Amino acid sequence: MSYPKEVGGHKLGKLIIEGKTKQVFDLPENPGLCLLLNKDRITAGDGVKAHDLEGKAAISNQTNAKVFEILQATGLKTSFVKQVSPTAFLSRKCEMIPIEWVTRRLATGSFLKRNPGVPEGFRFCPPKQETFFKDDANHDPQWSEEQIVCAKFKFNGLVIGQDEVDYMRKATILVFEILEKAWALRDCALIDMKIEFGVDTEGNIVLADVIDSDSWRLWPSGDKRLMVDKQVYRNLSTVTAADLETVKRNFNWVKEQLDHLKPTIHHKVVVFMGSPADQEHCQKIAKSARDLGLDVDLRVTSAHKATEETLRIMQQYEDTHGALVFIAVAGRSNGLGPVLSGNTSYPVINCPPPSDKMVQDIWSSLSVPSGLGCATVIYPDSAALMAAQIIGLQDYLVWARLRVKQLEMATSLRHADQKLRNLSV
Ligand SMILES: Nc1ncnc2c1ncn2[C@@H]1O[C@H](COP(=O)(O)OP(=O)(O)O)[C@@H](O)[C@H]1O
Ligand SMILES: [Mg+2]
Repeated sequence: MSYPKEVGGHKLGKLIIEGKTKQVFDLPENPGLCLLLNKDRITAGDGVKAHDLEGKAAISNQTNAKVFEILQATGLKTSFVKQVSPTAFLSRKCEMIPIEWVTRRLATGSFLKRNPGVPEGFRFCPPKQETFFKDDANHDPQWSEEQIVCAKFKFNGLVIGQDEVDYMRKATILVFEILEKAWALRDCALIDMKIEFGVDTEGNIVLADVIDSDSWRLWPSGDKRLMVDKQVYRNLSTVTAADLETVKRNFNWVKEQLDHLKPTIHHKVVVFMGSPADQEHCQKIAKSARDLGLDVDLRVTSAHKATEETLRIMQQYEDTHGALVFIAVAGRSNGLGPVLSGNTSYPVINCPPPSDKMVQDIWSSLSVPSGLGCATVIYPDSAALMAAQIIGLQDYLVWARLRVKQLEMATSLRHADQKLRNLSV
């Protein structure tokens, strides 16, 4: 069998593995990466049903690239690097963990057979998470988490223990929730989804393999009859050329919809400081907020000394932004936050700068006249987080960044704990 020598300007090394729908090649000039080449092939039932489908490789490749670009924008660790040709992309080279991580929002398909008595459409809150061992010959048997831990998998030097399983379970649910919110923008219900993880050459667990129309059930308007995923193919008892065209048309539609899954809301966080002396504190707020993907402006204006100017600036922002949060930074007596809050219906967060007199000064932010609903926090990070939570109500990417940050924070605490335990023995 001969394989291509070069794809998308990348010299190919040996074939690492060939599966049902993809070939994975080494890149001699880039040992940490590999190239995944999609095939014009559609399969179902552990490969029992399989057809050539011209154009499928390109549609899958682009679908996958668009999905991973969304996930990368959230800060989640993935293996995806970039698309390099219509049918290929670069990925971090992984030793793959042979588990399919499945998440379900609604009960349907194989879940109903394995759980008699549960009606189709039963809603899981939080989403249901299941794991299957990748083993086509035995029809991918369902595995418990204990089975995964007891398998004592070791990939690229990393032993897959309980901590690693915890991470993958949480990341799996998070990936589902992010894509569920993304698809909701097009009124499509993500019903269930399958993903895989690998361990990269540095020993990190990363979301790997692909996410495309083979990976999920997707029901426009939440209506099963309108399904646009691979289930259409799975359901066919005989497969005609016209059937395959329908499947391809659906996959192509999904690929095109992915261009419209970016949040459309135009947001802004405006940090008002009462004096340029507060700049250092405000820069800390701005940095934390920008790390969460927020668009931040810093302004100097005093509600006490330049009231009209303050309100005029505020009104300019109100005129031009859909999702807007004001953060007021004022030392001593804080007139700034309460004055903004009394004159706008957008949220205002007071975050007074550090001072020896903080204990007395804080009351000017807390004890506000009736009719005012501003919040008060004292740490720059808290102000940024709260602003992100508010913007995240309308912008799923900001919401997702918060969730990814929480996931990564829990992981780094666990690593610190592991390190400490290893040191003390
Ligand atoms: N980044 C990666 N590094 C190494 N192998 C990968 C990577 N991403 C996916 N793979 C592996 O590539 C193989 C080929 O994919 P596929 O054709 O979907 O196989 P399968 O039929 O086993 O699902 C799979 O074994 C998959 O786990
Ligand atoms: Mg596969």
